Amino acid sequence: MDIYEAIRHRYSCRAYANTPIEKEKLDRILTSAAAAPSAKNLRDWRFVVVTDTKIKEQLKVAANNQSFIAQAPVVIVGCSNSDYVMRCGHGISLIDLSIAMEHIALTATAEGLATCWIGSFYPEKVRAVLGIPETIEVVELMTIGTPTDEEKHKALEPLENVVCYDKWKF
Ligand SMILES: Cc1cc2nc3c(=O)[nH]c(=O)nc-3n(C[C@H](O)[C@H](O)[C@H](O)COP(=O)(O)O)c2cc1C
Repeated sequence: MDIYEAIRHRYSCRAYANTPIEKEKLDRILTSAAAAPSAKNLRDWRFVVVTDTKIKEQLKVAANNQSFIAQAPVVIVGCSNSDYVMRCGHGISLIDLSIAMEHIALTATAEGLATCWIGSFYPEKVRAVLGIPETIEVVELMTIGTPTDEEKHKALEPLENVVCYDKWKF
């Protein structure tokens, strides 16, 4: 699957088969995250890979009881170890982590798996479940697994709604 196909086929999957992800596949997916660009090449992302049934159940509770979180064979908890702020005023933690997490989503799609970003969670609860220190920011969670639902075909946003050329024309 090439990059365009992976982008087209990625969708938010909320129903997973009860089958583990092969170690080689998961390693390739995680390697794609570690290959992501990062500001100043700081690479301050940290990923907690959760496969334990009891811990996934606790994560589900910490994430608003979204039941597919416990069902997915793998939940990645994306964290950042950086409070660096760029000259533009933006902190890098959310940006760097988001790039790496989308690498995960696209690579998983290319591997025939499906994913879902999870932003609806209580960071303090996730921190407590996983023993993550206060100094580390819990940025996003992502489920990965073999989908049991139908891939959703999404309506694409017309380019003219989101793109302009040379000057601001919205
Ligand atoms: C930052 C972020 C947080 C999200 N949080 C959740 C979530 O907590 N639960 C959920 O079911 N979907 C979540 N989603 C998935 C979005 O609802 C989904 O990406 C959007 O509806 C577009 O659908 P698609 O991913 O299938 O293209 C999140 C997506 C993003 C990018």
